[in-house]
Amino acid sequence: MRRETSIHGQWSSKLVFVLAATGSAVGLGNIWRFPYIAGDNGGAAFVLIYLACILAIGLPIMVAEIALGRRGRQSPINTMTTLAREEGLSRFWGMVGWLGVAAGFMILSFYSVIAGWSLSYVFRAAGGAFSGLDTDGVKALFDGLVADPERLLAWHTIFMAMNVLVVARGVRSGLEQAVKLLMPALFVLLLVMVGYAYTLGHFGEALRFLFQPDFSKVTGDTILLAMGQSFFTLSLGMGAIMIYGSYLSSRASIARTSTAVVAADTAVALLAGLAIFPIVFASGLAADAGPGLIFMTLPLAFAEMPFGIFFGTLFFVLLVMAAWTSSISLMEPAVAWLSENRDIDRPVAAVIVGAVAWLLGVGTLLSFNLWSAGIGFHVSWGGEMIYIGGTLFEILEYLTMNILLPLGGLLIALFVGWRMTRRSVEDELGISSRVIFGAWYYLLRFAAPIGILLVFLKAVNLI
Ligand code: PHE
Ligand code: NA
Repeated sequence: MRRETSIHGQWSSKLVFVLAATGSAVGLGNIWRFPYIAGDNGGAAFVLIYLACILAIGLPIMVAEIALGRRGRQSPINTMTTLAREEGLSRFWGMVGWLGVAAGFMILSFYSVIAGWSLSYVFRAAGGAFSGLDTDGVKALFDGLVADPERLLAWHTIFMAMNVLVVARGVRSGLEQAVKLLMPALFVLLLVMVGYAYTLGHFGEALRFLFQPDFSKVTGDTILLAMGQSFFTLSLGMGAIMIYGSYLSSRASIARTSTAVVAADTAVALLAGLAIFPIVFASGLAADAGPGLIFMTLPLAFAEMPFGIFFGTLFFVLLVMAAWTSSISLMEPAVAWLSENRDIDRPVAAVIVGAVAWLLGVGTLLSFNLWSAGIGFHVSWGGEMIYIGGTLFEILEYLTMNILLPLGGLLIALFVGWRMTRRSVEDELGISSRVIFGAWYYLLRFAAPIGILLVFLKAVNLI
């Protein structure tokens, strides 16, 4: 059975869907998290495993997740239960939607805090706060921000309110223009940054760091982080892309649109890496500086480069916009569910979701100051004592990226690849080339689930 539209509305064209999905995908994951995780994990080996995960697992699952959304045309929770019923399967599959809503809340909570840092940097850049700063100066500036819970709370609150405003009106309003104009601008500005970084004289070192792997240093955790990042960056495994798919017209080609989104997202991440690592090596900053990496490297560039105030302000404005178009997609599954099930008006649903995520986010912003000691315990595992724990931010980040998103992706791959009839799948995708359909179906049925399971097992040292 084909539903033509969702009660929540429809994109006005296929292009708008591509823009919205790109808006969801391109965000802090590319510019903040990709460089910082790559830096923490030794660079190239991580990057290459990440790229392999994008192609062999991420792209096939994106196609599957969009197809589910378009076939169900409801919030992920109701889409999954409806489709399971239609295929004669257990209600258990509604689980995918529930897991996704839970992951969405957790991700949104810290996403908003980091976006808050970016907001604060817009004003620092515009006020000329970077001029004349050296490596110690940018570090002190960043440390000063994260040490101040009240300031963090203010920025976090502002950013969350920005999201509630958009989602309350429906994700379509404003999104189209935002993505059509701002994404290309971000792309061009990143190219400018890469060009500037090239002049610093450490470009070769950065290239080797990012692309010349030393696989002997790879651990199960590196692989898990690379896979988790590939889900996070493509907005997969939690229903964001599924619900965007539910607003897509029945005629659009899912395979083609997914490929475009994945290509854009990957390009932005790699450009961010190429902009940041030459600065890291030129300035003597540590590649594994952690979540503050871009907030310590980029200001150094803006301090030196011609028109640094202009470029710096523009960059952080575009970063905030990219984060904004991502975080609204984090809210959308829960908001759509509240409004279709409980008959709550969309604006009220948006406020509820924003408030819960905001509260959880307070725990993240305290993770960088008052609660920086974190929580945890020691366990013995395979004859070794290991410490499990960290700050609330670290725990939420690890749990969502490395466990919940891949698990959601695994369930999506199993549902579409093994539980739905091949006829329904073919009908929804409408791929005319047998070779392309066959390759995709094979990746979805075998490569993706086996890959995810192996990475999970490897990460806990069972293989
Ligand atoms: N893909 C977004 C980014 O890279 C984050 C995101 C994850 C958005 C999951 C929606 C769902 O920043
Ligand atoms: Na991304």
